[in-house]
Amino acid sequence: MKIQHLLVIYLLSQTLLLFCIESLEPCDQSSTTLNRSSFPAGFLFGAGSSAYQYEGAASADGRTRSIWDTFVFEYPDSFKFSISWSRILPQGKISRGVNWIGVKFYNALIDELLSNGIEPFGTIFHWDIPQTLEDEYGGFLSPDVVDDFRDYADFCFQQFGDRIKNWITLNEPNLFTMYGYALGDWAPGRCSNYIGNCTEGNSATEPYLVAHHQILSHATAANLYRHKYQASQMGKIGLAVSTMWFVPKDQTISSRKAAHRALEFYVDWIVHPLVFGDYPKTMRYLVGNRLPNFTAQQSILVKGSLDFLGVNYYTANYAEDSNTSTILLSYTTDSHVNCSDEKNGIPIGQPTDASWLFIYPEGIREITLYIKRKYNLPIYITENGVAESNNCSITVDEAVKDGIRIEYHQLHLSYLLQAIKEGADIKGYSIWSLLDDFEWADGYTYRFGFIYVDYTNKLKRYLKDSALWYKNILQKENATTEHSSSLLSS
Ligand SMILES: *[C@@H]1O[C@H](CO)[C@@H](O)[C@H](O)[C@H]1NC(C)=O
Ligand SMILES: *[C@@H]1O[C@H](CO)[C@@H](O)[C@H](O)[C@H]1NC(C)=O
Ligand SMILES: *[C@@H]1O[C@H](CO)[C@@H](O)[C@H](O)[C@H]1NC(C)=O
Ligand SMILES: *[C@@H]1O[C@H](CO)[C@@H](O)[C@H](O)[C@H]1NC(C)=O
Ligand SMILES: *[C@@H]1O[C@H](CO)[C@@H](O)[C@H](O)[C@H]1NC(C)=O
Ligand SMILES: *[C@@H]1O[C@H](CO)[C@@H](O)[C@H](O)[C@H]1NC(C)=O
Ligand SMILES: *[C@@H]1O[C@H](CO)[C@@H](O)[C@H](O)[C@H]1NC(C)=O
Repeated sequence: MKIQHLLVIYLLSQTLLLFCIESLEPCDQSSTTLNRSSFPAGFLFGAGSSAYQYEGAASADGRTRSIWDTFVFEYPDSFKFSISWSRILPQGKISRGVNWIGVKFYNALIDELLSNGIEPFGTIFHWDIPQTLEDEYGGFLSPDVVDDFRDYADFCFQQFGDRIKNWITLNEPNLFTMYGYALGDWAPGRCSNYIGNCTEGNSATEPYLVAHHQILSHATAANLYRHKYQASQMGKIGLAVSTMWFVPKDQTISSRKAAHRALEFYVDWIVHPLVFGDYPKTMRYLVGNRLPNFTAQQSILVKGSLDFLGVNYYTANYAEDSNTSTILLSYTTDSHVNCSDEKNGIPIGQPTDASWLFIYPEGIREITLYIKRKYNLPIYITENGVAESNNCSITVDEAVKDGIRIEYHQLHLSYLLQAIKEGADIKGYSIWSLLDDFEWADGYTYRFGFIYVDYTNKLKRYLKDSALWYKNILQKENATTEHSSSLLSS
């Protein structure tokens, strides 16, 4: 597919949302308690996407393979997709050449977004390291990645930074690490053989190294941005973490401590160093020599390197102390927490088609207040959403009736509003996702979109009820309607 075609499809989807925000009549009058003016002035509402999950054209226009292509081709699914780092730098490094067609694609995309009043958030790394760097030095397992990431980020700032004012260096470094290097379910599929079915890896050590190198990569890129670009481009730089809320399984001190430890191993692992210059003490104590150290110089570099934090929130788990001891060490057991999605057979929240996703909207308030208390950072909710399974036996008309999605977002926005009232500095909210998309290891099993994509009929798009609902909320009050935001991977 030609870049122009991709762009048209991408923009069509964007325009559809804009169109429904601006010109369709409200169809759902029942859920009208929230509107834009319920939120602070300047609050951004948006929709998320990522290059790999949307673009298509896997090997067109000079793009090379990333680890996701390799992974997906080895665990086949039928779809087309595309990529960022390897689209722009096919050999991973600036010194080995730039794919100017890729650069042109993103330039056109950014311009088109801006001309539609959509503020682009640029994600520099959404898990798709070029396969060539993976082969050469093991990707994020090696400290060598830091310099290559810095150069790639530098190039993005230089090319796109005149128009992109919010940069997300890394998307969900914690999930990328956990699933790629501890559990081995996602690319590059590494783990210990006592944890998963991987041919290579070490779940006890590699996750900590990979996270460490991502933290250093972020900090190095942020430092460069601040010194070389921020004064003239006047943007902000942060990263997005995956979060969950952990509820103590019992009202005991040990359960409460376990819930806190679970959160530390999930969220603070990444955020604590970026604010305070080192990992949480609990992790130092429990992981010991397997947790890398920052040199004094690195610690200074890392500390304070976030202008804002992106928070991706979907669900919650119960947590209780796990007192089983094992000699088979792994990131997945180092926290000594047993997590579960039910207590005495009762699920933690309303179940959904995705087995891991229970609706627990209170959690979005809890996690944002936690971040406020502990880190006092401005927050963007960069992802929040719910999926239906892709059910071939129902019609499009049935599929677009997604009442559960409306309920989900309505509840989460209400709790978010409450957190804002309690002092959390929340600057924006972005739904996941705009279109039904490729969901990583799940392929096309689930549909997260506000817009239905008919995979059997030329990827035709249909607005779901939720898209109309979202539009309805956004147009209720015109005080802050000039901007929508869109997350995109560059
Ligand atoms: C918007 O929400 C605010 C506060 O939540 C409410 O006072 C106002 O009436 C709502 N406006 C509309 C047009 O629904
Ligand atoms: C483990 O992986 C091998 C090779 O891909 C496969 O043949 C085998 O079925 C897998 N085993 C399990 C339990 O998934
Ligand atoms: C980190 O530093 C501490 C204190 O100097 C030391 O005991 C530990 O072995 C170091 N860890 C690693 C992974 O080098
Ligand atoms: C963890 O929790 C599950 C579900 O509540 C329970 O079945 C299991 O025995 C627990 N495991 C440990 C090690 O505590
Ligand atoms: C773990 O805790 C349970 C319940 O408190 C107790 O029965 C069991 O003996 C403990 N196991 C270990 C290995 O300490
Ligand atoms: C698909 O939809 C049909 C009809 O509503 C329903 O009976 C079936 O359980 C659904 N299948 C899945 C996997 O959700
Ligand atoms: C909405 O727009 C109209 C027309 O521009 C304006 O008169 C009105 O004051 C606006 N409402 C708010 C709350 O700014």
